[in-house]
Amino acid sequence: MKNLLITGGAGFIGSHVVRLFVTRYPDTYHIYNLDALTYAGNLANLRDVENAPNYTFVKGDIRDAESMDQLFAETDVHGVIHLAAESHVDRSISDPMAFVMTNVVGTVNLLNAARKAWKGHEAAHRFYHVSTDEVYGELHNPEDFFTEETRYDPRSPYSASKAASDHFVRAYGNTYKIPVVLSNCSNNYGPNHFPEKLIPLMIHNILNNKPLPVYGKGENVRDWLFVVDHARAIDTVFHQGKEGETYNIGGFNEWKNIDIVHLLCRVMDQKLGRPDGTSSGLITYVTDRAGHDLRYAIDAIKIMKELGWQPSLQFEEGLEKTVDWYLANPAWLNDVTSGHYQEYYSEMYANR
Ligand code: NAD
Ligand code: DAU
Repeated sequence: MKNLLITGGAGFIGSHVVRLFVTRYPDTYHIYNLDALTYAGNLANLRDVENAPNYTFVKGDIRDAESMDQLFAETDVHGVIHLAAESHVDRSISDPMAFVMTNVVGTVNLLNAARKAWKGHEAAHRFYHVSTDEVYGELHNPEDFFTEETRYDPRSPYSASKAASDHFVRAYGNTYKIPVVLSNCSNNYGPNHFPEKLIPLMIHNILNNKPLPVYGKGENVRDWLFVVDHARAIDTVFHQGKEGETYNIGGFNEWKNIDIVHLLCRVMDQKLGRPDGTSSGLITYVTDRAGHDLRYAIDAIKIMKELGWQPSLQFEEGLEKTVDWYLANPAWLNDVTSGHYQEYYSEMYANR
């Protein structure tokens, strides 16, 4: 068994990655899920795999260099899949330093820990950094897409912190010969998405008959991918991606925000037995996000052609699955919105 360190595994995407690796590779990997359990980390996301013999949860903070060194000294870490981050653009606008500390300093702490532990046998290891399409900035021309060659142009504190971390990862690959690989993915959606982000926030508010806050005119475009397809892509890149390379991940699935909100309203009115048009009456246009990027669109040809990855779901199907998951899991949503999940799980782990 090889030890694989997945950071941020209690978060939205991380929990899907942990589940995939724990269940798909029971005899190959022992998964160490390193997570600080910030507001975004929720161990309820992993209830179905928490007792698997090849899974261990480690409560730890990547901002703490000493504890990262200690973890690598005590655990023979074969590879890292690094997802831990502050991930919400709006929070980065109100508290940029939190993003510098976790996304930049935290990533460098992990790289340093790997550098020390792997010295002399670097080639046997792999450091995979999971990043975002936001590092490329925004698109204006409808014909344009982000490719792996697009110049970095981060425009929010969040994307600037992710861009900085990408640069450090590549620099450590070049300077210290740590075998690195990176991917930059578009917007994810699916089960366990924290309801501060567009899709789960709208689902939550429709359920509770609350206003649906659409920033600006709702004309901004995002490129949506079902989270399980991102997890599958991460598996593909980790195993088949070439050392030093970057892979863009996306589903060629662009939507204006306002169109997604209308679609969600229609789907949920139907599922909740409300007359068509009820939920769209909740749409409220609010002040735009500062520096709001207009459009993201990923060219995912490289990962499709070179590594054979394809998304498995059409958007309408994925969105319906997502709505069904939220409707079937009201306790998850209530715990998250009340903050109860954090007390319960920190107590449970403190007593282990
Ligand atoms: P998330 O906010 O849901 O989860 C982040 C996780 O990291 C949480 O479990 C949190 O507790 C943990 N964490 C935060 N700070 C930490 C610290 N200092 N030490 C240890 N753990 C810490 O995020 P997400 O949406 O699942 O995104 C995961 C990664 O994927 C991020 O790196 C993000 O930039 C990237 N990404 C996200 C998307 C998206 O659409 N959500 C798209 C592309 C890339
Ligand atoms: O592109 C990948 C990125 O996607 C990830 O790197 C980020 O971690 C992730 O949070 C996401 O960033 P966005 O800013 O695109 O996601 P968010 O869900 O916050 O917003 C999606 C769009 O919806 C964006 O144009 C802003 C708009 N929006 C968002 C919220 C929360 C609204 O109109 N109203 C809202 O209440």
